[in-house]
Amino acid sequence: MAKFDVAVIGAGAAGMMCAATAAQRGKRVVLIDHATKLAEKIRISGGGRCNFTNINAGPANFLSENPHFCKSALSRYTAADFVALVKKHRIGYHEKHRGQLFCDDSAEQIIDMLKDECAGGDVHWRMPCKVDSLEQVDGGFVLHTDSGEIEADAVVIATGGLSIAKIGATDFAYRIASQFELRMVEPRPALVPLTFDPQQWAPFVEMAGIALEVDVETGSLKGRNPTGGRFREDLLFTHRGLSGPAILQISSYWMPGTPIVINLLPELDLAATLIEGKGTIKKQLGNVLSQWLPARLAEGLLLAHGFDLEARLADLPDAQLRKLGAAVNQWTITPNGSEGYKKAEVTRGGVDTRELSQQSMMVTKVPGLYFIGEAVDVTGWLGGYNFQWAWASGVAAGQAV
Ligand code: FDA
Repeated sequence: MAKFDVAVIGAGAAGMMCAATAAQRGKRVVLIDHATKLAEKIRISGGGRCNFTNINAGPANFLSENPHFCKSALSRYTAADFVALVKKHRIGYHEKHRGQLFCDDSAEQIIDMLKDECAGGDVHWRMPCKVDSLEQVDGGFVLHTDSGEIEADAVVIATGGLSIAKIGATDFAYRIASQFELRMVEPRPALVPLTFDPQQWAPFVEMAGIALEVDVETGSLKGRNPTGGRFREDLLFTHRGLSGPAILQISSYWMPGTPIVINLLPELDLAATLIEGKGTIKKQLGNVLSQWLPARLAEGLLLAHGFDLEARLADLPDAQLRKLGAAVNQWTITPNGSEGYKKAEVTRGGVDTRELSQQSMMVTKVPGLYFIGEAVDVTGWLGGYNFQWAWASGVAAGQAV
């Protein structure tokens, strides 16, 4: 039976980073993945250019039942550390939007860089190789795979979450967590488009394709550990509901059965503006609204809220204008679900951080067993944060193992 110091299961972002770090410290490391193509998620990320980190990444950009857990790993391996690695490999990059860093050419360069780093430590590869189960034995672990058994003193689970099964996602990490009786935070699709009841959505179907910058919020923003979120980003209407960065961001905070509140004109108090303009603006309501909103959206909103398109602003009572103002500045709607793991960029929830050491990512009650990356209940915002967590948690375990 092949014997290693460390077996890393899952050769995605976190797994490769961890294997390279441990191997460069002189550990004999095997890196195992069941996929036929390496690191497909990195390849398709950021539209093929991989938004590999965010220069503003800090604990506030992550969701977790324990918001403090990620602090240690993130502070010991920062966005600047990863940028230094990217520079060392002479990969050109640029900042796109709010600190998001992308490759100039291709995500493939990040995969090659991580492969090089693994080669620098002489990491052994088993790929494609599916790990079926893990057995704890005296002083270590035995991995049962579809190509034989592997023995290791320590095992790092880096098999990610449930998002996008067609490129290799499995529930392996959760099965191992259950085998060792570790607490879990319920996994849910996150960074995902939201859907609505078809009848409720009927007036908006025609608006598919419309995009605009909005404020969106959900949940409670009060207290020391707020459970809600608020973002100003672009929103996109789809045939089944809403998407775009604003919605992907808020989806991570959204709880089924609760509403989201959208301000379609964040820079304008619509009711006050309309009431003030009644004396001077002679136009019909539809025309008035379409100075600020795409005409198709203005029309659809008026119809959906029972307004007559032909009505003249001057003829409408203030109460009606306040109703319209609320419909635009505080559009409150309750999604009936999301597009699910097929479309979700990440999985929220996972192995409960109370089971892990924040320094090493090791399971406190199972010495030698580690969980890193998306498998853990630490979920980043859209914008390079999830990769930064993969790198940081991978390095933390790679240094400790
Ligand atoms: P990851 O999912 O990357 O790797 C897990 C690996 O485990 C896979 O290679 C899988 O094949 C393997 N595996 C699973 N079960 C196994 C088993 N039983 N045996 C062996 N191997 C097994 N983030 C970001 O910061 N910037 C971005 O631009 C994007 N863009 C983006 C686009 C799209 C379309 C998606 C779906 C996601 C993103 N993300 C992102 C999120 C980011 O890709 C994600 O958070 C990280 O890849 C998570 O890294 P992990 O290494 O934890 O899991």
